[in-house]
Amino acid sequence: MHVRKAAVLALVLSALSLPAIAASVPKSLQPSDAAEARIESLIARMTLQEKAGQLSLYGPADINTPNNPQAGWRNGLQETEDVRTGRLTGLFNNAGLEGKRRLQQVAVRESRLGIPLIFGADVIHGFRTIFPMPLAEASSWEPALAERTARAAAVEATADGFRWTFAPMVDIARDARWGRGLEGVGEDPYLARQFATARVRGFQGSNLANADSMLATPKHFAAYGAAEGGLDYNTSELSERTLREVYLPPFRAALDAGALSVMSAFNEIGGVPSTANPALLTGVLRDEWKFKGFVVSDYTADEELIEHGHAANAREAAKLAFMAGTDMSMQSGLYIRHLPDLVASGEVPMARLDEAVRRVLRVKLKLGLFDDPMRGLDGPPADQRVENPEFIALARESARRSIVMLKNEGQLLPLAKTGPQKIALIGPFAEGTKDLMGSWSLFPGQSAPVGIDEGLHAALGTEASRLTVTRGANVESPLPGGIETAVAAARDADVVVLAIGESQKMSGESRSRSDIGLPQAQQDLAEAVAATGKPVVVLLSNGRAMALKGAVRDARTILVTWFLGVQTGHAIADVVFGDFNPSGRLPVSFPQTAGQVPYYYAHKRTGRPSPESAPGTAFKTRYLDATNEALYPFGFGIGYASVRYDQVELSTDRLAIGNTLRVRATVTNTGTREAEEVVQLYLAQRAASVTRPVRELKNFRKVRIAPGASEVIEFTVGNDDLQFLGRDMKPVVEPGEVDLWIAPSAADGIRKRFVLTRE
Ligand code: BGC
Repeated sequence: MHVRKAAVLALVLSALSLPAIAASVPKSLQPSDAAEARIESLIARMTLQEKAGQLSLYGPADINTPNNPQAGWRNGLQETEDVRTGRLTGLFNNAGLEGKRRLQQVAVRESRLGIPLIFGADVIHGFRTIFPMPLAEASSWEPALAERTARAAAVEATADGFRWTFAPMVDIARDARWGRGLEGVGEDPYLARQFATARVRGFQGSNLANADSMLATPKHFAAYGAAEGGLDYNTSELSERTLREVYLPPFRAALDAGALSVMSAFNEIGGVPSTANPALLTGVLRDEWKFKGFVVSDYTADEELIEHGHAANAREAAKLAFMAGTDMSMQSGLYIRHLPDLVASGEVPMARLDEAVRRVLRVKLKLGLFDDPMRGLDGPPADQRVENPEFIALARESARRSIVMLKNEGQLLPLAKTGPQKIALIGPFAEGTKDLMGSWSLFPGQSAPVGIDEGLHAALGTEASRLTVTRGANVESPLPGGIETAVAAARDADVVVLAIGESQKMSGESRSRSDIGLPQAQQDLAEAVAATGKPVVVLLSNGRAMALKGAVRDARTILVTWFLGVQTGHAIADVVFGDFNPSGRLPVSFPQTAGQVPYYYAHKRTGRPSPESAPGTAFKTRYLDATNEALYPFGFGIGYASVRYDQVELSTDRLAIGNTLRVRATVTNTGTREAEEVVQLYLAQRAASVTRPVRELKNFRKVRIAPGASEVIEFTVGNDDLQFLGRDMKPVVEPGEVDLWIAPSAADGIRKRFVLTRE
């Protein structure tokens, strides 16, 4: 950085527009020094209030946003006046092009310094075209797919004037009670890193200055998903090791991929709320990771320092959050109210204020907002545009790739599209479109999702009369006469497709559940239908790993369909009728019972591991009433073709630290149609100065294998895979025995062992 040089230049150049600066400065100062000069020039001229304004962000005026509590309420007149006087940096979730255009014009033409606004939004799984929820999409184990859907979302959202998304959420979630797991990436840091990288790339595109690029915001920093008891907003009680080994790596990956903003979390860790935690926001982000972007608080998270019992009042809350490293305040208005006075009184150094403003202005500049503030604001509004068939096709592709088949006894699926078979589609999700999209589908102009009944009907075409549709029960309550009608429909059919699960409002923010089972009304429906003896295919709509029991657990076929977005019905029909061979794998473990959570595969061995061969042994790490295995483990999923793993070979069984080892495995498709298999590599060091999990995912590859064919899959294993944090929290590789698995899931596979040596 050439701040001083730039400041001198700034005096000379402050009156000029940016293109003029770029043309007149020496080449060595272009473009970054010219940009710095522009920024320093602005900072030199800004009042304290204008500086605090650049650090204050709000939701739209006059609108009750459904996804947030009412707070910091403002009317439209106030909003316009705030823009004119430079009291805000931008707005979020303010749908509608007309309003954004008007406010941007006020900002650039009528405010004293003409600093453009930034418009942000929760573009989590699509903007106009709604894709599967992020956890669903993580089930594809195809980060490249997530990159494509994030790109499509950015193309649509930028055309509506949004240049900043509050995504990706990269919180690791190991407790299925937590309602927000479905916004994220599941339980595993390695898989999460791949998706974090892909989504940042997708949103930001090749260059942030492109008109269709959106600034990405990994959130919520940090360990928000570690909420005790799975209760949203609750305290995260965890060691620094777990924080660093499990919760931080996806953030690091997102920043390495170029994300230039980070959202602080609502939680507290070890007595310090994350939004006021200097060790996290300055120590980790700035000092260790050299993060150059800005930190925005979560919605009123700075003000909530008072309720946390950390700040005595609003002024102190502003000071604590800001000094810890939260550069921008969302919604509370605390920064505009208190930062000017805190700086004037000397409690907050001017240098800290300038640094935060500099970070924000730099990002605005990188986004090209200074060059072309009206970009994206002059086209027809998104809700007047026709659907993009390419994105709709992508939505169907990503939805069917997000489906995980857990069992399929006796090859019950795929069903035949033609022939005499009668199908009874039963359940609260069978008809209608409510509860299929996923929780972050906020913006106008979205098409209704394709219902499950609609999808199956379309696939059956002229034979649609073979399908009957019966609701049977509401999501959380019985439907009068519902079970009787459903049982009659089942009796009259050859196969039952049972569309059951959780409604959209049962997961998401502030929607934790103490019981992760199916609501009783639906369990009763499932039991009654199963009692007819008809074969049952369960379609599970869900926002979390669920504890399945009774007739649902025992159904012959189970498909996990999460919330799949706008093409739900077609994607499900593609799998049910075999036009698509399901290839999803679980990004979260499904426990045996709700009482096992938090449940995740990468747990520690303990001093008394329960022996696999004798799970009930006393004085071992076990429950009296459940085994320790998952019902369906992380990484698990099946398709319509069977696959065999064999011939795992290591290039050496003694590996010197610093060298690499090759492992090759043969995977054979023993079925009759093409398979897509996710071949997973897990490692576990037997003994180390810091104990290691029973196994950890280190790599994977999704491969297509023709029927009867074999593929040889090769991975290399080196220091990056073998290192862990030593007792001093620094990466270390230690000699010792290492187990390696090539596996179709975290609970299976072929094991090999090698010895890691000093030389
Ligand atoms: C959520 C964030 C979201 C923000 C703005 C908060 O309640 O935790 O994830 O980005 O609201 O809508």
